[in-house]
Parts: sequence; C-alpha cells; structure tokens
Amino acid sequence: MNLIPFCRRSERHGAPDWPRGCGIEARQVCASYGDTRVLDDVTACFAQGGVTSLIGPNGAGKSTLLGVMSRLQPADSGTVFVDGQDVGANGGRELARRLAVLRQDNAVAIRLTVRELVSFGRFPHNGGRPQPGDAVHIDDALAAMELGEFADRHLDELSGGQRQRAHIAMVLAQDTDYILLDEPLNNLDLRHATAIMRLLYRTASERGKTIVLVIHDINIAAAYSDRIIAMKDGAIVADGTPAQIMRTDVLRRVCEMEMQVAEVAGRYVALYFDGEDELSGLGERATAA
Ligand SMILES: Nc1ncnc2c1ncn2[C@@H]1O[C@H](COP(=O)(O)OP(=O)(O)OP(=O)(O)O)[C@@H](O)[C@H]1O
Ligand SMILES: [Mg+2]
Repeated sequence: MNLIPFCRRSERHGAPDWPRGCGIEARQVCASYGDTRVLDDVTACFAQGGVTSLIGPNGAGKSTLLGVMSRLQPADSGTVFVDGQDVGANGGRELARRLAVLRQDNAVAIRLTVRELVSFGRFPHNGGRPQPGDAVHIDDALAAMELGEFADRHLDELSGGQRQRAHIAMVLAQDTDYILLDEPLNNLDLRHATAIMRLLYRTASERGKTIVLVIHDINIAAAYSDRIIAMKDGAIVADGTPAQIMRTDVLRRVCEMEMQVAEVAGRYVALYFDGEDELSGLGERATAA
C-alpha cells in the first residue's frame, strides 16, 4: 500500500526573483571561537520580505551566523548589512528597533510571568518606560502564540512548548522589520509548529518583514520558506528555492543521508529513515501505484 502520491520532483519553480533585493546580507563573514574558525567566508543574501530557512547539521555554524548577523557575536572579518546598513556601524538599541532575535538557548535567569517576558520585547522602543502603544503589541503577540490564558503564569510553570511560544511572542512584540529565529519550533507540537510557520510566512509576504530561521525539519522548511540556505562546516553549501533544495542529490550532500523526495499536494516532502534499504525502490513502487 502506498500512502502518498509520488511524483518526481520537477523544476517547475524557477529561481525566485527578489525585486526588493537582500533584506539582510552577510558578506565574506569569518568567525572563530578561540583558534577554531567556525564561519569561513560566508556570503549570503536573505531576501527582503521573505522567509529564508537556514538548515544544516549540528555544528555547521548556523547559530554563530545568526549571532553575528544580530551583532550579539563578533566576527573576525566581513560585514553584515541590514537594509543596506552595516550593523557594526549602528548602536545596539537602534538595531534592536529594526531587528529582533530569538537565540537557540533562550533561558532567562530571573523569574518572570509570560506577560513580563513578552513586554521586554518593547524595551528597544520604550527604554523600559511602558508607553500606551505597547499593550496592543503585547496582547497581539500573546494572542498570536495562543498564550492569553497563560499571560500571568510564571515561565517555570509552563510546559517546554508553551515557554518556547512565550519567547517567540517576545520577539513578535518587538515588531521589527527583521526577525531572526534560531530553532523556534523546538518543543512545539505539530499544530503549533505549522501554525507559527504559517503566521511567519504570512507576516513576511503581507507586511514585508524579512524573516530568517534556523530549522532542522526540512519538510516544514520547504513548506513555509521562500528560500532555503544550507550550511555545513562553517560554509554555505546550497542556496535555492525549496524546489531546488528538496532533491535527493542536494539533501545527500547537506544532510549526509539518503532521502526520497515526494511531492504531495504541491509541497515537497523528504522521506528519511535510518537505513538506505528501506528507501530503495520506494519512488518506483509509489509511481507504479
Ligand atoms: N561558545 C563556544 N565556544 C567554543 N566553540 C563553540 C561555541 N559555540 C559554538 N561552538 C562551536 O562552533 C561550531 C558552530 O556552532 P554553532 O552553534 O554555530 O552550530 P549550529 O549550526 O547552530 O549547530 P546546532 O544545529 O547544533 O545548533 C561548532 O563546532 C561548535 O562546537
Ligand atoms: Mg544552533
């Protein structure tokens, strides 16, 4: 029995044309920890008004690149431009009004309620003095993350996924044109993961926001991204539309795994298992069905 309609990946989508160019551009960025270089001459364009997913194995350098792009980590060399401006040339608070970032490790040291955490997202705008306009951003972000009923709970009284959604809400409350999210779907159930990806995709296309996210689930990346950039060993190894990345040969190079790629209801779905044997002939059997 075949559960999925299978057809060979086609090149039906050409390279996207980005009339608005790069929202964020990393140019020849190198970064190290001590003597170990972990970003090696990384040049990448994150399209203005689009969702770009950054994929790649553990240790590839994805978080480090996000850290450099958000000025939280220094680069050895190279430049990052946000909306054409060198991030190194601007003050931190000025950048925070335009760019929000969710770090992979987002534990907070102090005991906060969800609303208090989310209200920190307004800090770059209000400098710690709440303004009348803040509440609408905070309430909208709480509602978008379905956290209304948890607003007055402490973070340590939430489940892992609820806590993760609270951190995403803080980033949304910052209401910036540029949003970087490092593994935002960690701990999320499927319904929340897909709902959040839909929200991000819609926010990018309708409100022109530039969103970059690190994600390990390539199927979700393919479904909700305009572009996918793959990193490995501190370098970019593939950069293209989901149609260009969701191919057996590209995924083998990036993930070092054998995968079949099916097209289901207009979306690309990679099938990955432990052993190559399970996959051999899958495409042919499904095609014959
Ligand atoms: N604070 C640190 N000190 C030393 N080395 C580090 C530090 N942080 C990261 N590294 C190393 O830098 C490299 C890149 O790490 P990075 O966190 O950017 O990878 P990643 O692609 O985000 O991986 P993951 O998918 O596991 O989150 C890895 O080899 C990692 O061990
Ligand atoms: Mg990481």
